[in-house]
Amino acid sequence: MQLEKEQQAILDGSQGETMAKVMKTLVMYGDTFGATHMVPVTSQKGHLVTSFGLSVMKPVYSLMQQLIDGGAVSKQPFSVDPRPLDKNVPANPLQNLFFKVMYSKQADYEKQLTTLGLMSKDAFSCTCYMEEIGNIPAKGDVLSWAESSAVVYANSVLGARSNRNSGIIELFGSIVGFVPYFGLLTDSGRQATWIVEVRTSQKPPAQLLGSAIGMKVMEEVPYIKGLDTFLGKELGDDAKAFLKDMGAATASNGAVGLYHVEGLTPEAVDSGADLIVPSAKTYMIDDAELERVKKSYPCIWKKPDARPKLCFIGCPHLSQKQLHDWTETLEKELKASGRKKVSIPTVFTAAPAVKKAFEQTEDFKRLTAMNVILSDICPLMYMNNPQCRNMPVITNSNKLRTYTTARYHTDDEIVKILSKGAI
Ligand code: F3S
Repeated sequence: MQLEKEQQAILDGSQGETMAKVMKTLVMYGDTFGATHMVPVTSQKGHLVTSFGLSVMKPVYSLMQQLIDGGAVSKQPFSVDPRPLDKNVPANPLQNLFFKVMYSKQADYEKQLTTLGLMSKDAFSCTCYMEEIGNIPAKGDVLSWAESSAVVYANSVLGARSNRNSGIIELFGSIVGFVPYFGLLTDSGRQATWIVEVRTSQKPPAQLLGSAIGMKVMEEVPYIKGLDTFLGKELGDDAKAFLKDMGAATASNGAVGLYHVEGLTPEAVDSGADLIVPSAKTYMIDDAELERVKKSYPCIWKKPDARPKLCFIGCPHLSQKQLHDWTETLEKELKASGRKKVSIPTVFTAAPAVKKAFEQTEDFKRLTAMNVILSDICPLMYMNNPQCRNMPVITNSNKLRTYTTARYHTDDEIVKILSKGAI
C-alpha cells in the first residue's frame, strides 16, 4: 500500500509507539484486502460495535487500556452498540445471576469507552443514525464503522461509504483518522452485481425480504427493483424504517454491506441503472419465493410447539414512528380480541434517546397499559445468556433469529400471537 508522508510518519513512530502499532494494524488490514492507499475518515462521528463488558473479553480491556495509556484515543466522538443489560427486561434469578457474571466488566468498560471518546453516556444504540441520537453521516462521508446493520444503512440509505470492518479495526480507523481504500469505499465496489426484482402481491415484510436477498447475494451488491411501488419515491419515516429492517436482515442472513433501491436510495436516484454491471445476475422475488425462504428457517427450540415465554421487537432498535405504529396496531388487535394486555411478556427495544422522547408521549402510556416493556437493551446480548438460550422466544427480527434460538414471525403473526395467544 502506498502511504502518504503523514501516514508513513505515524507508522514510523512520529506520534508514539502505540499510534504506530495502530497504524501498522490498519496497513496490514488494507494489504490483506488489496487496498492501494489510505483515505481520511471524513465523518464527524464514529461508531463502535463492541458495547458489552463481557467478562471473558480480557484482551479487549487490556488493549483499550494500552490505547488510553499510549494517548491513542479516538479523533472523533463515537456512539456504540446497545448495552447488554436492562433490569426491566424479564429474567429469573438464575438468568440474572448469569448476567451478573457474564457482563461483570460493563461499568469498567464504559469508563474506558468514555476516555476513548464516547459521545455521551447514553449513546448506546445500533441505530445511531436516528435524529434523536445525532450520529448521521453525510452523503459521501468516509466512515470507519463495523456494526453490520448500521454499515448497510449508512452506505445504502445515507450514501456514506464504509466497509464492513470488524470490531476494534473500526476504532483504529477513528483513532488514526485514515482507513484503507478498498471494497465499498470505491466506486467500482459500489456497483451492483445482482438485480433483484420484487414482484410480490403486496408490500413484503421487510425482514423477510432482506433475508431472501441476503441469502441469495451474500456479500455482493444488489440493485432492487419494484420496491418503490410499495415504499414510494421519498425517504420518509416509513421508508427509512423499512430499509433499516430490510438492510439488517440482508447484512445478517447474508453479508450485504450496500444495496440500491431503484428510484429511492441516493445513489440509485443519482445514477439509476448505470450502477448495474453488465454481467449482473437476476433474482426474482414473488410471494412463493418469500414463503419458501420463510419455511426454510429451522426451529431450534427444544420443544417446537412450546408456548413462547418472551417476545422481542426492535432488532435493530425501533424508530419513534415504529413505536407509535406498533402501539396503534397492538391496541386495535387486543381490543378486537377482547384483551387488555399482551398474551406473553413483550419487550420493545429502542435507543435511549428515542425511548426518552417516546416516554413523553401519550402512546407510551397506552403501550405500557398493554404490559409492553420499553427497553434500550440489545436482545442478542440477552439471548447470549446460556440460561436464556433454552427459552422459547419469538421475534420479528431476522437478525435475532439468525444469531440466536429465537423464532422468527412476521409482524402480522406477532400481533396475532400477542392478541390471541396463538397464530
Ligand atoms: Fe441492534 Fe443488537 Fe439487533 S445491535 S441490530 S439490537 S442484535
